[in-house]
Amino acid sequence: TGMFTFDPGFLATASCESKITFIDGDQGQLYYRGYPIEQLAEGGSDFLETCYLLIYGELPSKAQKDEFVKTVTEHTMVHEQLTRFWQGFRRDAHPMAMMVGVVGALSAFYQDSLDVANPRHREVAIYRLLSKIPTIAAMCYRYSQGLPFAYPRNDLSYTANFMHMMFSTPCAPYEPNPVLVRALDRILILHADHEQNASTSTVRLSGSSGANPFACIAAGIATLWGPSHGGANEAVLLMLDEIGSVENVPAFMEGVKNKTHKLMGFGHRVYKNMDPRAAIMKRTCDEVLAELGLQDDPKFKLAMALEKIALEDEYFVSRKLYPNVDFYSGIVQSALGIPVEMFTVIFAVARTVGWISHWNEMMSDPGMKIGRPRQLYTGAPRRDYVKMADRG
Ligand code: CMC
Repeated sequence: TGMFTFDPGFLATASCESKITFIDGDQGQLYYRGYPIEQLAEGGSDFLETCYLLIYGELPSKAQKDEFVKTVTEHTMVHEQLTRFWQGFRRDAHPMAMMVGVVGALSAFYQDSLDVANPRHREVAIYRLLSKIPTIAAMCYRYSQGLPFAYPRNDLSYTANFMHMMFSTPCAPYEPNPVLVRALDRILILHADHEQNASTSTVRLSGSSGANPFACIAAGIATLWGPSHGGANEAVLLMLDEIGSVENVPAFMEGVKNKTHKLMGFGHRVYKNMDPRAAIMKRTCDEVLAELGLQDDPKFKLAMALEKIALEDEYFVSRKLYPNVDFYSGIVQSALGIPVEMFTVIFAVARTVGWISHWNEMMSDPGMKIGRPRQLYTGAPRRDYVKMADRG
């Protein structure tokens, strides 16, 4: 029609202004609120401090950090009534399916007090989400294993408590290993935000109608589930199982070049250089494998062989396809003992802060408009209804 810009897949359209995250895809750089991701992930920050930064825009003082950690820790329990939801799911339900349902159901628990135009109400919703999302994620895992739920332990750090809720059993309480807790904390920091990806854009779009934030986050979780987005780390491990061993790599690579299948964990819409998160995750991967004595594990050796071949291969070099964060995060999570079907759930736990920060930024904007894309109509022109008896 000439009235609209046609940009399927949003290859050249900025959908909003944002002060939260900046990606320089050509240089392979990522900044949260101006701070390089390397300095946050490897320079002494932790996940909750990074959350504070993403939400409020500045690093906290000691007192602000203590207060923030205390508040988040105080909200870690879920309403006892919410625990009944799981009994309605099959034991073999995908944990992401349970996440979408249960997080959406939080709307039903916090509907009365929720006035999304009120900044204080928004802040409480943010705390509730950050606090409860690891509890819900761990419950999805425990349910699928047939294990009783483990109540949160508020004496542990956010990430150590998450591992406790996943792995503790009555006869074997989880003993935090600092190297492994640090590795999971890094996974959370690296996945915390990534500007207007598909799930974050979804959360903004649903939030723009004034919807309940818990329902908006459920929409984000649904979007993250896809294999082209958050499902990629799971797909990496499934691919490694399918390849089986190093001898099968050349045949698999032939299939990639013939476009029979993709090399999962490679390529990115924005990074046309090494994903900076991938470099950090690779270092973390080395630390974790060394800590657990898994350097010679066949699956991890296969992953390293695949990475080496792909980095040197003309197909990947000419298309600027580099390993993305999910290539390594899947391997690290697998080494931590996290089952494959939980990988995307961990991603959702991390990305919740990014989603809710974007939602809050949008809701704080007095000029906010409902997101309402237009389309190019390519269907039938006007025509008259034909009664059933007259249809040929
Ligand atoms: N394996 C093989 N070929 C690939 C791959 C891959 N992983 N990724 C892209 N290509 C090829 C693609 O076939 C195309 O080739 P040609 O020019 O001959 O047609 C070229 O590279 C450009 O790719 P594209 O599909 O136009 O790129 P895109 O920006 O639309 O897709 C992507 C980005 C991430 C969806 C894609 O690279 C992909 O599917 N990768 C595998 C899945 C994956 O690891 N996803 C995680 C992304 S990072 C985490 C997140 O953001 O959630």
